[in-house]
Amino acid sequence: MSKDQVDIVLIAAAWSGGAGALGLCAVWLLRTRSVRWLTGAVAVVAVVAVLAGMVGTARAMFLSTHDFNVMLLVSLVAGLVAVGAGAAVGTAFSGWSHALQEEARRFGESGEFKAGNDRGRGPAEFQGLAEELSRTSDRLRESRAREARLEVSRRELVAWVSHDLRTPLAGLRAMTEALEDGIADDPSRYHRQIRVEVDRMVRMVDDLFELSRIHAGNLRLSLEPVMLGDLVSEAIASADPVARARGVRLGGGVDEGLEVVADPAELSRVVGNLVMNAIRHTPSDGVVQVVGRAGPDHVELSVTDGCGGLSEEDMQRAFDVAWQGSSARTPDHTGVFGSGAGLGLAIVKGIVEAHHGKVSVKNHDPGCQFVVRLPNAATAP
Ligand SMILES: Nc1ncnc2c1ncn2[C@@H]1O[C@H](COP(=O)(O)OP(=O)(O)O)[C@@H](O)[C@H]1O
Ligand SMILES: [Mg+2]
Repeated sequence: MSKDQVDIVLIAAAWSGGAGALGLCAVWLLRTRSVRWLTGAVAVVAVVAVLAGMVGTARAMFLSTHDFNVMLLVSLVAGLVAVGAGAAVGTAFSGWSHALQEEARRFGESGEFKAGNDRGRGPAEFQGLAEELSRTSDRLRESRAREARLEVSRRELVAWVSHDLRTPLAGLRAMTEALEDGIADDPSRYHRQIRVEVDRMVRMVDDLFELSRIHAGNLRLSLEPVMLGDLVSEAIASADPVARARGVRLGGGVDEGLEVVADPAELSRVVGNLVMNAIRHTPSDGVVQVVGRAGPDHVELSVTDGCGGLSEEDMQRAFDVAWQGSSARTPDHTGVFGSGAGLGLAIVKGIVEAHHGKVSVKNHDPGCQFVVRLPNAATAP
């Protein structure tokens, strides 16, 4: 490059650069205005930068005045075209953004995001935004559905619990009246029956209390290392008489030395609820297996029964509060299987999740299998 050319580049850079810097300041001042102003201003800056460069280097170009005027005119016309194009693009931008704004406004009103067609949505960024809004809308719909399900099960809970409390209370009143009037032919049977009913109601109130603590989020866990084998043996030992009475074989095993960090009382409640459910839903001569295994980063406890399989709906709703299966509600008057108000599995889920674990159910011939996964002792909360 000759010295002349270097000079021209330097002079043009100084003039165009100066014009460009001033233009950027102007664009900055306009930044909160419509995008139409911005694209128009960018086009003006581009043209002014070219003109400034030309004016600055005019002397070095040795042009005649006539030639210089011609060049000025040509670049002015080109400039007008550029500004027009910039404004057109800006108008299109503002159209797309208004459409999106309108969709977002309707989203806010109806809670459903209905996107227009892709081509009417403009550049990739706007499409990305529309897709994000559409995903948000899906998530909102899901959480509304979840809320609605919760609300329904809460209402069912109140209805069923009052039903489940009213029936034994009516029985208790009848029995106490009979005792009072001295017309009970076998008072000791009445006493036993009263005792059983009261126990069952105590358990139901206890379950409700536990559930409300879980839902209020103030389940206080006192975590400590727990030998899973010991905990399962205790649960099996205390459930064994019930299993025997129903002719159900209760067995299983836990890996040697398997340890979890958990609240022992709450975890016992989990295992007890699952084992009792399994026994209750297994026909006589059936088998209930409780197995504890170590996974790569978790401990897995499974309770397998012979319930004959669960329907899709049962599996989806088993952990809902007050869900009692798609079969008819048949309160268990012995009370050994818990309150019988459909709270057991909701409590299991609440406790397991408070331990940062997960509980699930699947069919497992000839019955179903409830699986609790807890974080390893090393990774526990
Ligand atoms: N081991 C199981 N096998 C088959 N069904 C089960 C089992 N455990 C629970 N269920 C179903 O899930 C429902 C909810 O269980 P749960 O919350 O313990 O309430 P409850 O025992 O009071 O009925 C039960 O009514 C039953 O339909
Ligand atoms: Mg139960």
